[in-house]
Amino acid sequence: MDCPSRSLIIGCIFFSFVVSVSPCPPRCRCDPNQKVSCTGSNLTTIPSGLPNTTLVLHLDRNGIEIIRQNAFSNIQYLEELSIAQNRLYEIESGAFTGMSNLDKLFLNDNLITGFPSGIFAPLIKLTELNLGGNRFPVIPGNLFGSMPLLGRLFLGSNEVDLFIESQAFGGLVNLAELSLRSSRIKSLSPGTFQGLNNLLILDLSMNIFGTPTRDGAKAISSLKGTQHPNAGLNELGEGIFADLKSLTDLNMSSCTLPTINKELFRGLTSLQHLYLSGNKLDGIVENTFCESPKLVLLELDGNPLENIEVGSFNCLNQLGYLNLNHTRIGRTKGTLFRELHQLVVVSLSHSGLEKIADDSFQNKSRLTRIDLSDNDIEWLNASMFYGTPQIGTLRLQNNQIRRLPENLFADVAGPLNLSLKGNPLVCDCQLDWISGWLLKNGGNLDKCLCDQPSALHGLHLDSIPYDRFHCKPYIVTDIPQIYNATPGDKRFELVCPVGGKPPPTITWTIPSGEKISKNTVHEYENGLYRVRENDSLVIREITSAVQGWFTCEATNILGHKSVDLEVKVVHVPSNWMVAFLVVMIVLFIGCAVCLVVTFLKPCRRRRRRRELIRTPARRVDPRYGPLSPIAEGNETDEL
Ligand SMILES: *[C@@H]1O[C@H](CO)[C@@H](O)[C@H](O)[C@H]1NC(C)=O
Ligand SMILES: *[C@@H]1O[C@H](CO)[C@@H](O)[C@H](O)[C@H]1NC(C)=O
Ligand SMILES: *[C@@H]1O[C@H](CO)[C@@H](O)[C@H](O)[C@H]1NC(C)=O
Ligand SMILES: *[C@@H]1O[C@H](CO)[C@@H](O)[C@H](O)[C@H]1NC(C)=O
Ligand SMILES: *[C@@H]1O[C@H](CO)[C@@H](O)[C@H](O)[C@H]1NC(C)=O
Ligand SMILES: *[C@@H]1O[C@H](CO)[C@@H](O)[C@H](O)[C@H]1NC(C)=O
Ligand SMILES: *[C@@H]1O[C@H](CO)[C@@H](O)[C@H](O)[C@H]1NC(C)=O
Ligand SMILES: *[C@@H]1O[C@H](CO)[C@@H](O)[C@H](O)[C@H]1NC(C)=O
Repeated sequence: MDCPSRSLIIGCIFFSFVVSVSPCPPRCRCDPNQKVSCTGSNLTTIPSGLPNTTLVLHLDRNGIEIIRQNAFSNIQYLEELSIAQNRLYEIESGAFTGMSNLDKLFLNDNLITGFPSGIFAPLIKLTELNLGGNRFPVIPGNLFGSMPLLGRLFLGSNEVDLFIESQAFGGLVNLAELSLRSSRIKSLSPGTFQGLNNLLILDLSMNIFGTPTRDGAKAISSLKGTQHPNAGLNELGEGIFADLKSLTDLNMSSCTLPTINKELFRGLTSLQHLYLSGNKLDGIVENTFCESPKLVLLELDGNPLENIEVGSFNCLNQLGYLNLNHTRIGRTKGTLFRELHQLVVVSLSHSGLEKIADDSFQNKSRLTRIDLSDNDIEWLNASMFYGTPQIGTLRLQNNQIRRLPENLFADVAGPLNLSLKGNPLVCDCQLDWISGWLLKNGGNLDKCLCDQPSALHGLHLDSIPYDRFHCKPYIVTDIPQIYNATPGDKRFELVCPVGGKPPPTITWTIPSGEKISKNTVHEYENGLYRVRENDSLVIREITSAVQGWFTCEATNILGHKSVDLEVKVVHVPSNWMVAFLVVMIVLFIGCAVCLVVTFLKPCRRRRRRRELIRTPARRVDPRYGPLSPIAEGNETDEL
């Protein structure tokens, strides 16, 4: 370089210094940390003149088509190379020669259809490789050779049907994560995952395993356990995952799987998270998940699961999260969730539930969230949440619930967020407890509206004052209709099993047809009838005149309800008669024994006459015994 003047000489020296220290190719940015970025620069070839100390090279979003042999041999320190979103269709043999320091390589979203064999051999330090979004028809066996440090491999979003040859991942002993997501894979041949002993995460989601092939329903028959003679191609074979002893996460959502069984999951003994959402599973059979007892999370949502066999969730006593949203379960059988002792969250939204078995959730002490929204549930049994103190969220919106039983949350510690929107709630005295419970135990109620009674229609349940919840008289408990009394008893009590709010007035009709109400007394023979403060009818000095039908009629401003009860006066042997009978029986048995003994003595001597001394056996009538239906109550309230 010609540098005539002094100032120019200084300038020239400075310029050559800058050029020699960091020559940067045109249309690229070189930063002091040895990172060169030529992203989105309309490049059609790999730029030349890269600083030989480059550590990171980004060439994304260009039009590069070919990687030539020795393309990077002068930047041997390179640790990260990204040529994503170009038009790469060819990678020449020896393209990666000398790249023994490369740690990460991204070639995703190109047009690559295949690789020369041994292409990855120089990349002995590679830990991450992304080849997704290309056009491989096949991943040949042993393509990756030995890449002992490779931990993550992404082969997803392939744009043509992908077939993976047996042992394609053979040398990848440290591979931890493999994605084959959305790669148009129809089948997996035996040995596909051989050698992946340390694989932790496998994403096979959004493939097309259930696609009927030219061989019809083969895949389906194999999964059902009926061994097909042509097992191999076009099938998701039994034990396909058997080598993946370390796998913790398997994503097979949206794979058009028609069925699953225990054999499919054979060997997945470390599995913790299994995603099977959005398949075509219409049922699950007993013990399906028994190969994977460490499962913590199971997603089965979006499958038309009409037939979940009792025992489907056997062995899953570590399961914490179960998603059965958007299924067609309809009814749960009581024992379905029995083994799921560690359940924390269960989702059954949009699952067509009409009836949920009473003991489905009982004694699940870790359960914190239950989603039963958008179903056809009408009623929850009062025992449903026994032994589930931790429930903090209960979603019941959009069902057919009219009432909830009062002690439903007896075991729930609170606070509880309760959703009841979209139910035809009857806001009467049987629902007034909810606001009170939430006030006492904490939590929230969503803005659910009352459907009935008409006076409260459209009002928020939690905005209604306690004294506006009314009930016309209704039967509180089912009690027997027939009562036995004994003549001579001092007193006998009949309870009117009717409640209501405001509290109804009770009137009793006695067998003679007369009506008596609170604080009136009716006398008969030697006894009398009286209605207690708590509306029970007390009868004093029972005689047979008491026998007959009693009616209790409850009335409040909203209506009335009557219940008929029958009293039968039954004669029971009195105590001295019982004693007399007992004595008689004892005497009779005594005599019989005497007779037998007397006849037995001669018999010992004369065997031939043995038959003659047999006596018929006598039995005691078990019916003898004191019967007493008399309730001996506290007498303070008596006349
Ligand atoms: C790339 O080329 C297009 C069109 O040829 C042009 O509009 C764009 O500015 C170019 N980008 C760069 C970074 O040179
Ligand atoms: C990098 O290039 C410079 C000159 O451009 C040279 O002096 C140096 O030795 C080279 N380093 C390596 C490791 O090749
Ligand atoms: C499983 O795959 C589906 C579909 O590709 C994806 O949406 C989901 O996020 C994946 N789940 C996990 C946990 O990776
Ligand atoms: C189940 O579905 C409901 C309503 O669609 C949604 O709010 C909830 O998050 C879903 N649960 C899971 C675990 O996906
Ligand atoms: C829950 O525990 C109670 C009391 O131990 C028991 O009576 C009940 O049967 C249990 N329910 C289930 C479903 O195990
Ligand atoms: C509630 O469940 C218990 C136990 O399963 C059962 O005995 C009772 O009849 C059920 N009650 C109602 C109202 O269904
Ligand atoms: C209940 O809802 C409140 C307010 O919406 C929220 O802060 C709280 O975290 C919720 N609790 C649970 C257990 O979801
Ligand atoms: C009514 O009250 C009396 C005592 O005053 C009591 O013995 C009786 O059990 C009560 N009956 C009912 C049904 O509560």
